[in-house]
Amino acid sequence: MKVLLASSIDPAAIEALEREHDVVRAFNAPEADLVTLMADREAVIFRSGVTLSARVLDSAPNLALVLRAGSGLDNIDVAHALARGVQVVRVPGSSAQPVAELTFALLLSLARKVTLADRLLREGHWPKATLGGPLLAGKTLGIIGAGRIGSRVGEMGAAWGMRALGCVDRPSPAVASALAGRGVTLTDFDTVVTESDFLCLHLPLDEHTHHIVDAGVLARMKPGSFLINVARGGVVDEDALHAALTGGESLLGAALDVHEREGEGVVPRLGALPNVVLTPHIGAMAWDSQRLIGERVVELLRSYEHGSLDQELEPEEAVDAPPT
Ligand code: MLT
Repeated sequence: MKVLLASSIDPAAIEALEREHDVVRAFNAPEADLVTLMADREAVIFRSGVTLSARVLDSAPNLALVLRAGSGLDNIDVAHALARGVQVVRVPGSSAQPVAELTFALLLSLARKVTLADRLLREGHWPKATLGGPLLAGKTLGIIGAGRIGSRVGEMGAAWGMRALGCVDRPSPAVASALAGRGVTLTDFDTVVTESDFLCLHLPLDEHTHHIVDAGVLARMKPGSFLINVARGGVVDEDALHAALTGGESLLGAALDVHEREGEGVVPRLGALPNVVLTPHIGAMAWDSQRLIGERVVELLRSYEHGSLDQELEPEEAVDAPPT
């Protein structure tokens, strides 16, 4: 197949794809380049960092398959792709554990000032007396979006002795009981916001969740609490977050793996604050997980070529309706 590899994936998978297909590599290309690169492509493989807009999709008359090497669908016009008869498939399963583990890395970095301590020590300082922080055990861990990733974070929090609370967009007794089995109590958005010592965001970005954490939500957070965003940059209003972190309000610190503006050369304004931990969208970047995602991408393309893709898709991989 004629494949555009629009994002970097596991090196072994790239090798396999290049052996089996006609692959053009163009990682994180802007729209202006994509419209040219897509001209003769039949499949595109992508992650975050690139946008498959309607214009980009329309520039590929032979496009038949779009493969998301991960779970987020906020950077593709899914409705347009489906309307054009392009099949959209994603590989969501293997990214839950690495994102949950990074959430914990960020929780610990924030609570125990790990990155700040590291920076100060390298500068020759020994400010032990100023580097205290709260225990996680005994604190409330709040999860906005207690789905595949969020419920895993809740389970990990419960194992650390935290009280885990979560909310979802479609609560039901079945969801409540599945979460309870993982040590997470299902409640509503406002309870999670107001009672959490550590508020973690694990929800997709769409028109309903854009800036769901705004100035109003930040003002309602528990005094002395922390915010962790590993979901998508757009779910937090970062200007409001900057104001909350500098305005002496309840929020003690924030950690963000995802940002409203991402990419090489972008310097986040929040980076100037000592109570902020920032990472460059590395949630899914555990080697083991990337290897599994890469293997699945190679397999899915093979299945497509053999005409057996539909039969072999896991239920969560098939994208057959716009995300709600
Ligand atoms: C995902 O949605 O799977 C993650 O954000 C991984 C990524 O594309 O970087």
